[in-house]
Amino acid sequence: MSEIRFRDGFLWGSATSAHQVEGGNVNDWSKWEKSSKRVKQLKKQGKDPDQYISAQAGDHYRLYEQDFDLIKSLNGNAYRFSIEWSRIEPSEGKIDYKEIEHYRRVILALRQRKIEPFVTLYHWTLPVWLAKTGGWQNRKAPYYFDRFVKIISENLSSEVDFWITINEPNIYTSNSYLKGIWPPQVKSIFKYFKVVNNLAKAHKLAYRSLRLIDLDCQVGISKNNIYFKNIPFVGYFWNRYFLNKIKDCQDFIGLNYYFHSTFPKKRGLPVSDMGWPIYPKGIYYTIKGLKKYKKPIYVTENGIADKDDSRRAKYIKDHLYWIHQAIEDGLDVKGYFYWSLLDNFEWDKGFDPRFGLIEINYNTMERKVRRSARVYGQICKTNKLEK
Ligand code: FCB
Repeated sequence: MSEIRFRDGFLWGSATSAHQVEGGNVNDWSKWEKSSKRVKQLKKQGKDPDQYISAQAGDHYRLYEQDFDLIKSLNGNAYRFSIEWSRIEPSEGKIDYKEIEHYRRVILALRQRKIEPFVTLYHWTLPVWLAKTGGWQNRKAPYYFDRFVKIISENLSSEVDFWITINEPNIYTSNSYLKGIWPPQVKSIFKYFKVVNNLAKAHKLAYRSLRLIDLDCQVGISKNNIYFKNIPFVGYFWNRYFLNKIKDCQDFIGLNYYFHSTFPKKRGLPVSDMGWPIYPKGIYYTIKGLKKYKKPIYVTENGIADKDDSRRAKYIKDHLYWIHQAIEDGLDVKGYFYWSLLDNFEWDKGFDPRFGLIEINYNTMERKVRRSARVYGQICKTNKLEK
């Protein structure tokens, strides 16, 4: 059996986002989940609308310390989470400093446990006041975002070294503005490009503000890239278009990898509970595709919906194997964040998909460490993978 070693200092993490785990959020998504349009849609599909309302989610807002103890017990040394804009600025220009203090406590709780915080500033949910004025279609949205980012940075930059401004701009824009399946359910190529441009602008403004307030911090985005076998043109657009737009304004690239895509569709690959084909070597190709940016890379998401936990450990090991191969080829991958630390609210798919290293019983909010989490924990502890 061969042994694969990661270098000392490699970050071993897991990730969540506010709306998916915190509970109690009031934002454009929580409104949409309860809207009559959405409820009607779900009923028509024979689904129970209550399963598609984020509500208390995993109650992580209250139970974060307990969750961080679990990270520690599983030897994790990094955690990615997001700050919920709608908590900080529930109405326009009015900052809720109590919520800033909440996130300060969250960050300090991580620091006390020697867990490096990676803080996402926009993971798809908007304050209701902003959504009402057009959300990211509003030409002022990038400036509102920058104002929010400055407030966060002025208050918390001394505790945070890594910022992720925007999570997966292409997944968000295609689901919300092309396919029309996520709020605000728009289907317009014109609006799609408007929003893409506004997100790029928002990132650049935020990048400058974050670096101005704290010269030493590292700023990037989390980018969902797909390995497109034999469809290079699509691959170019999906994987590079946004990154090229912001290329001079990033200190690292956060890569989120879940899929590969072939034309014609390849059949026979194992799939996750979401039906996503499992193709670990794709992470190697997508990492190599980032070479030209000459930036450090963190895998900021990679994970599987696997309710019975029968495939997760192998999934993690196989993806780490290919990440290591990319490192051997000279790519500077500095960390890995499994998606997700906890079972959570999977957007329009509700609570059914189970991505967590830790299982949540939503009736009692009890946490249970899955077997695969212990396998991952062992890798985190030893920095090595047995193949
Ligand atoms: C990613 C999202 C994350 C989660 C996973 C499964 O696209 O960033 O919030 O939904 O997929």
